[in-house]
Amino acid sequence: MIDRKQLEKALAYVRGQWPSAQPEMGLILGSGWSEVVDAFNVAASIPYEDIPGLGKTGVVGHAGRLVLAESSGIETLIFQGRRHFYEGVGWTPIALPVFMLKSFGARGVLITNAAGGVRSDLVTGKLMIIEDHINFLGANPLVGPHDDFWGPRFPDQSEVYDVTLRRLLTLAGRDEGEELPTGVYLADSGPTYESPAEIRAFKALGADAVGMSTVPEALLAKAAGLRVAGLSCITNSAAGISATPLSHEEVTEATRNAMSRMKRIVLNFWREVAREGI
Ligand code: HPA
Repeated sequence: MIDRKQLEKALAYVRGQWPSAQPEMGLILGSGWSEVVDAFNVAASIPYEDIPGLGKTGVVGHAGRLVLAESSGIETLIFQGRRHFYEGVGWTPIALPVFMLKSFGARGVLITNAAGGVRSDLVTGKLMIIEDHINFLGANPLVGPHDDFWGPRFPDQSEVYDVTLRRLLTLAGRDEGEELPTGVYLADSGPTYESPAEIRAFKALGADAVGMSTVPEALLAKAAGLRVAGLSCITNSAAGISATPLSHEEVTEATRNAMSRMKRIVLNFWREVAREGI
């Protein structure tokens, strides 16, 4: 269950540190994406452990800082590192970035992750625009007493990933000379990687890529009325497609190799968002 009081405490702390912050956009950086921060003009940062309710991420490749930054004239809150369902510490730290963005008045968020490729063209190094998702976590962050902050009791989810932002991601890829594939992201709880039989099942269900994140933040952000965009870095072929055992090292190495493109495409996206105005 999401602890609203804890979220309010975290928000009060960050507002106290940055009283004049007025971010228009948010960026949640997943596994291996941390360095994308360096592409922005950074104004200030706060370590996660200083923020009540967020705490330190325990995952290698996740930095754990909240960053106030700017690009293309868009003030941005960057969550450098995210919390996961598999950490077993509940939904509050996972919901916190979305709560904070909405409370600060941001209008949109780009959520990034590392994912295993299920569809055959989604090979290591590809960046996939998330067009929709499958929640296979076996849980939903909105279970519990209803809180109006997150919209109606039964939030519509027929277009979680905003169609305009998806188009702008396509343009951001083209600005870099890449035609970015689009696909359906399936989240399972982890922390185990999938078995080959699970991957065959997920493929039959319509999944193009698989990971352990993004879906909770995306569904909360959509429910709260933010415009959502999602981008996966394909870091490996999913289990059974890949001939080798999966490891977190493989994931971080793949994002390292793709980093310069990831940075440029994110910056291009910010420029496209500024041009379009959201
Ligand atoms: N499965 C789940 N999560 C992942 C994977 C994967 O193959 N690759 C990166 N994150």
